[in-house]
Amino acid sequence: MAEFGQAFTTQMVVSNFQDNHWTAPEVKPIGPFSFHPGTHVLHYSSTCFEGLKAYRWTDGSIHLFRYQDNIRRLRNSAAALCLPVPSDELLEASIFAAVKAVVSEIPDLPGALYIRPTLIGTELNIGAAGRGSKEALLYVITSPVGDYFAGGIRPLKLLIDDENMRSTPKFGQVKTGGNYAASLGSVTQARAEFGADQVLFCPGGQVQETGAANFILLKGNEVITKKLDGSILPGITRDSILKLAAEQGYQIKEIDYTVDELLAWLPESEAFLSGTAAVLSPVGSLIYHGKEYLLGDGKIGEKSVQLKAKLTGIQTGKNNDTYRWTTVV
Ligand code: PLP
Ligand code: COI
Repeated sequence: MAEFGQAFTTQMVVSNFQDNHWTAPEVKPIGPFSFHPGTHVLHYSSTCFEGLKAYRWTDGSIHLFRYQDNIRRLRNSAAALCLPVPSDELLEASIFAAVKAVVSEIPDLPGALYIRPTLIGTELNIGAAGRGSKEALLYVITSPVGDYFAGGIRPLKLLIDDENMRSTPKFGQVKTGGNYAASLGSVTQARAEFGADQVLFCPGGQVQETGAANFILLKGNEVITKKLDGSILPGITRDSILKLAAEQGYQIKEIDYTVDELLAWLPESEAFLSGTAAVLSPVGSLIYHGKEYLLGDGKIGEKSVQLKAKLTGIQTGKNNDTYRWTTVV
């Protein structure tokens, strides 16, 4: 299978906001857009997006996971970027139409269809006039995917970056391209210099999240993760894992904690990344100021594997969906 994010299906769904109203979502063959060079998004990064998945269960039915939460988050991101905010109904119709249009292209398990609703500011305006783009384009593209990290399930190596921030303090909760652009330099350097898979951003020595997923620690009976304060993305996978872990008897600690505390906990802990793309990806070691620190014995932790099975079991229809997180398309 192609690297994550490099394969696309044949259809997309588009809707335009002009003269204060949205056009009905239209399914069309996936293909290029044409923009005037003065288009708002090309200058002021008026763009936000979502990432969610649809799964083909073994009986052939197609199911979305917690799409209502992605809709809520996209609407919050749009508002933060002063973009026209699409209604729940428009977003739901666009997501469902995008999945229905490509049902035959959805891979079997363990693959999935990654869905990328995207909103961009399309007003022809380079004036930065103290307001957002008055026009917008909403589109939903889809991509057949497998594992996010190349090499399948293996313990990941993270570099702790205590100098850079992936976003300004309150913008981490906004799923906007600029936050990813801000993290690229650090992640690229971590890969090239240390062979790291990702960066754990810890500005000022405070642990936050990685460039593409939340970071969660299992220490004895505790699940420890950064509390939501606007500086990190409120991950839907994170929320799901915390609920499933609480059900298993873990004590959930959403707190602020430092790199020093984290390093002290490592020998007796497991850790993983959580996200739609990453699902639950175990971490084997952290590199900090040139030294490598192992999580436990550096191998994939048993408790992480168990939690992952709980989550993917619901997503793929193997376990009872007691939370009603899945919706048939
Ligand atoms: N944090 C960042 C920076 C992300 O890009 C993602 C991925 O969407 C997440 C966290 C996890 O969010 P979710 O579980 O909703 O996919
Ligand atoms: C996701 O998990 O949906 C993300 O947005 C991460 C992205 C970098 C692929």
